[in-house]
Amino acid sequence: MNKSLIFLLVLLSLAFAKQTYKVMNEQSSEGELYFQQKLDHYAPLDNRTWAQRYFVMDHWFNKTAQPLVILYICGEGECNGVQYNSSFTSKIAEIHNGIVLSLEHRFYGKSQPFGFGNDSYALPNLKYLTAQQALNDLAWFIQYVKDNQLFGITPNMPWITIGGSYPGALSAWFRYKFPHLTIGALASSAVVNAYADFYEFDQQISDSLSKNSGNCRQIVHDINVNVTNILKKGTPQQKQQLKAYFNSTLITDGDFMFYFSDITVMGVQYGSRVAMCDLLMSNQTFAGVLQNLATYALQVGVTPDQYGAYYLRNTTYSHERNARQWYYQVCSEFGWLFTPAKHYPMRSEILTMSYWTEWCNSAYDGAFPNTEVTNNYFGGLDIQATNLIFTNGGEDPWQWASKRTPTLPGMQSYIADCDQCAHCVDLRTPSPNDSPILKEIRNKTLSSFATWKNEFYAKQSQKKPSFVEQKIVVQ
Ligand SMILES: *[C@@H]1O[C@H](CO)[C@@H](O)[C@H](O)[C@H]1NC(C)=O
Ligand SMILES: *[C@@H]1O[C@H](CO)[C@@H](O)[C@H](O)[C@H]1NC(C)=O
Ligand SMILES: *[C@@H]1O[C@H](CO)[C@@H](O)[C@H](O)[C@H]1NC(C)=O
Ligand SMILES: *[C@@H]1O[C@H](CO)[C@@H](O)[C@H](O)[C@H]1NC(C)=O
Ligand SMILES: *[C@@H]1O[C@H](CO)[C@@H](O)[C@H](O)[C@H]1NC(C)=O
Ligand SMILES: *[C@@H]1O[C@H](CO)[C@@H](O)[C@H](O)[C@H]1NC(C)=O
Ligand SMILES: *[C@@H]1O[C@H](CO)[C@@H](O)[C@H](O)[C@H]1NC(C)=O
Ligand SMILES: *[C@@H]1O[C@H](CO)[C@@H](O)[C@H](O)[C@H]1NC(C)=O
Ligand SMILES: *[C@@H]1O[C@H](CO)[C@@H](O)[C@H](O)[C@H]1NC(C)=O
Repeated sequence: MNKSLIFLLVLLSLAFAKQTYKVMNEQSSEGELYFQQKLDHYAPLDNRTWAQRYFVMDHWFNKTAQPLVILYICGEGECNGVQYNSSFTSKIAEIHNGIVLSLEHRFYGKSQPFGFGNDSYALPNLKYLTAQQALNDLAWFIQYVKDNQLFGITPNMPWITIGGSYPGALSAWFRYKFPHLTIGALASSAVVNAYADFYEFDQQISDSLSKNSGNCRQIVHDINVNVTNILKKGTPQQKQQLKAYFNSTLITDGDFMFYFSDITVMGVQYGSRVAMCDLLMSNQTFAGVLQNLATYALQVGVTPDQYGAYYLRNTTYSHERNARQWYYQVCSEFGWLFTPAKHYPMRSEILTMSYWTEWCNSAYDGAFPNTEVTNNYFGGLDIQATNLIFTNGGEDPWQWASKRTPTLPGMQSYIADCDQCAHCVDLRTPSPNDSPILKEIRNKTLSSFATWKNEFYAKQSQKKPSFVEQKIVVQ
């Protein structure tokens, strides 16, 4: 199929979606649902199940208009589903008459295999928290929806997966391990390469901050040096005062510096570098920078209990916290431990690999990530999958654990190298103000989806023509 034809098809489906908007609006049913998921996909005789939550967004769904079934993969936090009028995913649904199902990841939000008690996250329970189990959850969920023909989804409709960040990796891995269940995948900021010593992350924070006008990067560098100096050489009283100001008296000096550096990471990672830097540059005294960092920490929801091993040891379910589960995954499977950049670091020199080893060890009784096992299973950067799109943001520190260049025909990789384009930038709600490169990347995703979908339906109409499919051909 040539390029102009694909373009025409995208345009046509855009025009078509506009027409259907008002009618579909009245039929929408958005809401949370549960189904019984298997606890252990690797033990055929273990029939234990638990209630996994998912969401349905059928606002744009038109069963007779060659729809796409979009499986939006949720990750290391509460899942909220996809709203009909925001995010790139809803735009994809709109263009492709699609229905969006969002599956909450095991051990997060309300999807708790071991309930909501004080040992939900005990280590013997967390052994069921692995990326492999999560991928099987997705596969079993698809099977469940197809078996029951839920929401009018018939077995002859094509599925795609979409995910960003860790779910981006899941989206890529799902395409690799279960290729028969989908026709393609979008893997945004997909961290598919597990490795322990992740100094590139801090290097990118440094490089991204250097793009800012003014001396923002220098402020962040200096405050980390100065605060580290207080921890190493200050009086006990100075140390106490500093940590108390950040509500961090229960955590170690290293844990404090991890928390402290993540405050500025949030601004860069989520594309708010300029606003954060404006705040930090507004008062460049030591006390002023500290005060503004504390303010920013509250604004972006960074609190010491998400970083300190003291808190991470707590096995009790809490609606507010996901850190024990996520860092368990980090300390058992993935790594990505944030050591300082080699050049112009944005974090404390005390965050060495021996600090991180002790941190995992102390939070999870001796855990350390076996990244070799993880990459051996998933392929790391040698992942072998087709109809798979990787996207990354040029300012995103996570891009260095993602696949920045495609290595197979049928695999695509795009970098949105634009101002404040960072983590999962393409999954955000498209705006007329987006940079041209971002618009172009989204267009490429849309036209690939159109190609894969058309190939799927074309094959189907060849196989067994039916009334519905005849109609599609006429259209
Ligand atoms: C759904 O698609 C069919 C076939 O393309 C079209 O005739 C119908 O008007 C659409 N339904 C709605 C509610 O838009
Ligand atoms: C699960 O397996 C146990 C032991 O094999 C059996 O007693 C029980 O009936 C099974 N439960 C279900 C729901 O199949
Ligand atoms: C989406 O629609 C809701 C109401 O249906 C509205 O409150 C909200 O502002 C809309 N969001 C966007 C991004 O348009
Ligand atoms: C959990 O709660 C139960 C009942 O309140 C109590 O007996 C048990 O000691 C608690 N366990 C932990 C680890 O706190
Ligand atoms: C520390 O806790 C106090 C009391 O809850 C709160 O007012 C303050 O904003 C917190 N500061 C930071 C940096 O989290
Ligand atoms: C950090 O310390 C250096 C040397 O004492 C000082 O010149 C600088 O102003 C301090 N900067 C901040 C942001 O605290
Ligand atoms: C900078 O912040 C410090 C600490 O809050 C404050 O004492 C000082 O007055 C501020 N300076 C300016 C110029 O606002
Ligand atoms: C563990 O977490 C629970 C839920 O947030 C909290 O109620 C409890 O006090 C915590 N335990 C400790 C020892 O901090
Ligand atoms: C993206 O596609 C739309 C419509 O399909 C088109 O109007 C727009 O010019 C394209 N933008 C880029 C940057 O390719």
